[in-house]
Amino acid sequence: PKLVWLDCDPGTDDAIAIFLAATSPKLKLLGISTVQGNTHVENSTKNALSLLYMAGIQGINVYRGQENSLTRGKFCTDDFHGSNGMAGITLPASSQKEIRDDVFNKIYEVIKSQGKKIYFIATGALTNLAILLTIYPDIKQYIEQISIMGGSITLGNSTPAAEFNIYMDPEAARIVFNAQVPLAMCPLDLTLKVKVDSNVVSKIQSFKSKFSECVVQFLQFFLQSYKQNYDFDYAPLHDPCAVYYVINPEAFKTKYKNVVIETKSEYCDGRTVVDEYGTTGRQPNCTICYDINQEQFWSDMMTALAQCNKN
Ligand code: BDR
Ligand code: CA
Repeated sequence: PKLVWLDCDPGTDDAIAIFLAATSPKLKLLGISTVQGNTHVENSTKNALSLLYMAGIQGINVYRGQENSLTRGKFCTDDFHGSNGMAGITLPASSQKEIRDDVFNKIYEVIKSQGKKIYFIATGALTNLAILLTIYPDIKQYIEQISIMGGSITLGNSTPAAEFNIYMDPEAARIVFNAQVPLAMCPLDLTLKVKVDSNVVSKIQSFKSKFSECVVQFLQFFLQSYKQNYDFDYAPLHDPCAVYYVINPEAFKTKYKNVVIETKSEYCDGRTVVDEYGTTGRQPNCTICYDINQEQFWSDMMTALAQCNKN
């Protein structure tokens, strides 16, 4: 299996990304780090531990990451994903404790000691990864590829120009996009095509377990949030796309383009500026996912959820 690290801010779609990363036979999940975003980092950390527990997944350490962006303080939104980042639901409490001390050094040591390059998946703001790349520049040699959910080719969701994960910490995103580590991105343009709708919810409901009841509850909240905020009749399953890109890159249509991050702009702050037509002469630095084989994705996604359900 491919060795992977998952940095996330659970968060309802991050939760599904954790289930996929932890159960895919194609991956070995080395650890999870958390960041502020969909909720405060204390919550996203607690949620990660609870999600592993409720899915019966053992032996994965959770590292508490940054509570602030690099230079702009705290941004976390507590409304879209509910009061605790998980639809306000009380998830089953895990007895596992998170790692809180010397976190970056510990993550670096895990990644460095594998004897094989790892895939770093990020489904939240890029603060933790930017810090790792800055204080341990040699970490690049141990990373095969970074796969992120973030950015957009066209429109944003936090502002008309910026997608949430990039907007949360544009300075961090800039460090990651300039790092010269192989980088792949699943932008909004792609993830908006991967839809949780009432059919998907019914399928999960049919598992009839405590696990599935809880997943259905937070997905229903997610559907409601998208209805209220964007008038969508579905909820895009953003974050699992970045995990699936590592599992099955052949399932994606991609292009290799230059992407830079805007960090100083009145209207376009946090925008991922994609050089679609190659007009800038800047070197490509990012594999952008434009399309996904939905059938394969959903088949593997449902297998992952069924696996968690068995645990
Ligand atoms: C991203 O923002 C978060 O709310 C989701 O978890 C996802 O990572 C989509 O813009
Ligand atoms: Ca996320």
